[in-house]
Amino acid sequence: MVKPLQMNVEICASVVTGFEKIAAEEISLISTVRNVKWERGNVRFRIDLKSSPEILKLRSVDNLYVVFYEKSVVSLTNLDKETALRTIQNQIVFCDWESAIETYQLIRGKTINGGSELHVQRIKEFASNGIRLEVNEISPKFRVTCKRCGEKEIHKFSSMEAASKFGADINNAFGWKCSVHDFDIEVVLRIEKDNITVMMALNDESLFKRNISAYGPTTMRSTICHCMLRLADIKSGEIVVDPMCGGGSIPIEGSISWKNSFFFGGDNHELALERCRENLNANSSIKNCEFFTWDATNLPFQNNSINSIVTDLPFGRKIGSRMDNRLLYPLLLEEWKRVLKIGGRLVVMTHDKRSLENSLLKDRSSWQKKSFHIVNMGGLQCLCLCLLNTKSS
Ligand SMILES: C[S@@+](CC[C@H](N)C(=O)[O-])C[C@H]1O[C@@H](n2cnc3c(N)ncnc32)[C@H](O)[C@@H]1O
Repeated sequence: MVKPLQMNVEICASVVTGFEKIAAEEISLISTVRNVKWERGNVRFRIDLKSSPEILKLRSVDNLYVVFYEKSVVSLTNLDKETALRTIQNQIVFCDWESAIETYQLIRGKTINGGSELHVQRIKEFASNGIRLEVNEISPKFRVTCKRCGEKEIHKFSSMEAASKFGADINNAFGWKCSVHDFDIEVVLRIEKDNITVMMALNDESLFKRNISAYGPTTMRSTICHCMLRLADIKSGEIVVDPMCGGGSIPIEGSISWKNSFFFGGDNHELALERCRENLNANSSIKNCEFFTWDATNLPFQNNSINSIVTDLPFGRKIGSRMDNRLLYPLLLEEWKRVLKIGGRLVVMTHDKRSLENSLLKDRSSWQKKSFHIVNMGGLQCLCLCLLNTKSS
C-alpha cells in the first residue's frame, strides 16, 4: 500500500483576477511544486503531501483547496433535473477521499473522525452495500458549497439543489453533521458546463485578512498588496515607499515579506496614521516599517533616494473625485519622479485609468512601462501599472 506521506496532491489556489501569473511565480518557488497552471481567478499545481503545509505561507493567494475529484459528465447540461442531481450525487463514491482527508489533516493539524483509512472503508461500504452512518456527538460538522461558473441557465438544477444532494450522501456515508454556518470542513462542488470538480477548503479564514485589524473605507487585501510589491522586484536593503498608504496595508505586507528592506508609509488623512499604528501594533514582530503624516505631492525625501514606490491611488470614487485626479495625478508623478532613483520602480493601482494614462503621456520620457495588469478589486476593473523611472537626471 502507498504510504500517504509519499502522495502527491492537487491544489487549487484562488487568487485575485489579474494577478494569476504573479501568484503562479510565488507558488513555483516551493521546491516540491510541479505542474503549475493558471486560469482566470485561480492557480492549480501539484505538491508532495508531506510538504503541503508550506502552501499556508504563500502571500499572494486568497484561499487554498485540495482537489480530489474531477470529471466531465457526458451531457450534464442536457440531463433533466432529477437525473442530473442523481448523477452529481453518485460521484461521491469516486472521489479520492484519502488525499482530501490526509491533506486537510496535515494542514489543519487535526484528525477527521478516525482518519482517512476509515473513511475510505466507509465509502466502499456505502457504495457496495448502501451502509449508512448516523451522526453522533463526535461527528465533524461540514457544509457543501456549490459554485457554478459560466452560464448558470444551462443546467436544469440550482447550485443549492446540487449542494444539498451531494451533502446528503456525505452525511449518509460518513455520518458527518451538516451545518451551514458553523463547520469544520467545507466541501466545494464546482460545476462548469459538463465538468464537475470537488475540492476541500484548507484554510479557515481567507488568507487576505491576515495583516489588518483596523479597516478603513479603502483597505486593500494583503494578497493584492503582495502581488503589487512583487512587481516592484524589491531587493535586500532597498527603501520602498507608499506615499498614500491609508491604513498601511502595503508597507505592512512589504515589511512582513521582505524583512531585509525598509518600508515607509504616509497619508494626509487624520485617521490614517491612527489605523497604521494599530495595524503595526497588531504585527508586533515588524521592525522595518514606519508611518508618517505627509502630503504625497511634497515628500520628506531627498532627490534620487528611493528604490521603489508601491501605492494605491485615490480612485475618485470613495476618496476624491475624477476631477481632483486630473490635477492630482500629474503632481504626484512629478514628485515621485524626483524622489525615485533613476531605474527606480513605480507600481500604481487605480480605477481612474484615464487620469493616470493622461498624466503619463505628459511626461513620456520619464517613465517606461514594464507591465500592466487589469485587476478585479471588489468588482471594479482596476489598472495596475509597473513603471521604471527613466528620468534624465
Ligand atoms: C485608495 S486609498 C489607499 C488605501 C490603502 N492602500 C489601504 O489599504 O488602506 C488612497 C489614500 O490616499 C490618501 N491621499 C489622498 N490625497 C493625498 C495626498 N495629497 N497626500 C497623502 N495622501 C493622500 C487618502 O487619504 C487615502 O487614504
